[in-house]
Amino acid sequence: MTHTLNKLDSTDMDADSPPAPQKKTRTHESCHRFSKLLLISFIIFLLLLKMLLSVALITLSKKYSQLLDEKEIIKELNYTEMFCIMSWASEYKVWSCCPKDWKPFSSHCYFTSNDSASWSESEEKCSSMGAHLMVIHSEEEEDFITKILIPKAAYYIGLSDAGHRQWRWVDQTPYNESATFWHPGEPNYGHEQCITVNHRYSWGWNDVLCYSKLRSACQMNKIYL
Ligand SMILES: *[C@@H]1O[C@H](CO)[C@@H](O)[C@H](O)[C@H]1NC(C)=O
Ligand SMILES: *[C@@H]1O[C@H](CO)[C@@H](O)[C@H](O)[C@H]1NC(C)=O
Ligand SMILES: *[C@@H]1O[C@H](CO)[C@@H](O)[C@H](O)[C@H]1NC(C)=O
Repeated sequence: MTHTLNKLDSTDMDADSPPAPQKKTRTHESCHRFSKLLLISFIIFLLLLKMLLSVALITLSKKYSQLLDEKEIIKELNYTEMFCIMSWASEYKVWSCCPKDWKPFSSHCYFTSNDSASWSESEEKCSSMGAHLMVIHSEEEEDFITKILIPKAAYYIGLSDAGHRQWRWVDQTPYNESATFWHPGEPNYGHEQCITVNHRYSWGWNDVLCYSKLRSACQMNKIYL
């Protein structure tokens, strides 16, 4: 009995003892495999992270350069506020803008000053705003501007006499005799070399002395964004 028991025990021991180390190596192997897998997935994770970061960096730097561009545009234009209208130019959406307090008409923006200055000071003021004294080449433009002027005042426009009644527009565009809006009897005096728009019985042009302190109308091209 005891012998058989012993034998059984020993066989049991024999049978039991070898699998024990085997189990150990198996867990060792699976542990190895697991850590390898962990390492690979960690590497993949790192690679993905790197890709994501570089994509994020690229978009960020693009955004930043866009911001810089916008800042530069704003810096160049100098205006704190603009009024923009969205319109369609052929297939493209465009924003056409005028600075705040300027009035849009056709492809231009117009500003009328309330303070008075000589013709050349007025032109300088327009120029400091990136504009020039207003140029009128059509009845539409004449009608538009006279609708926003105050009838009591006279406003300088960008027309002057270069001498001997040679009319010059500030933007160098040619003077067109058939697109002028002189008051009856004007221009009259040769020494009155600067031109205003004013209201008598109706609106029209008048020649005045260039040092006269008067209001003025500035014009600039619309800003397209
Ligand atoms: C000029 O005066 C008118 C009213 O007299 C006013 O509506 C307008 O805003 C003024 N323009 C500027 C630029 O101050
Ligand atoms: C913009 O502002 C600067 C400084 O205030 C001035 O020197 C420059 O002439 C302005 N430019 C325009 C187009 O108004
Ligand atoms: C001059 O003005 C008239 C009237 O608006 C216009 O029909 C004509 O084409 C203009 N001429 C030039 C050279 O712009």
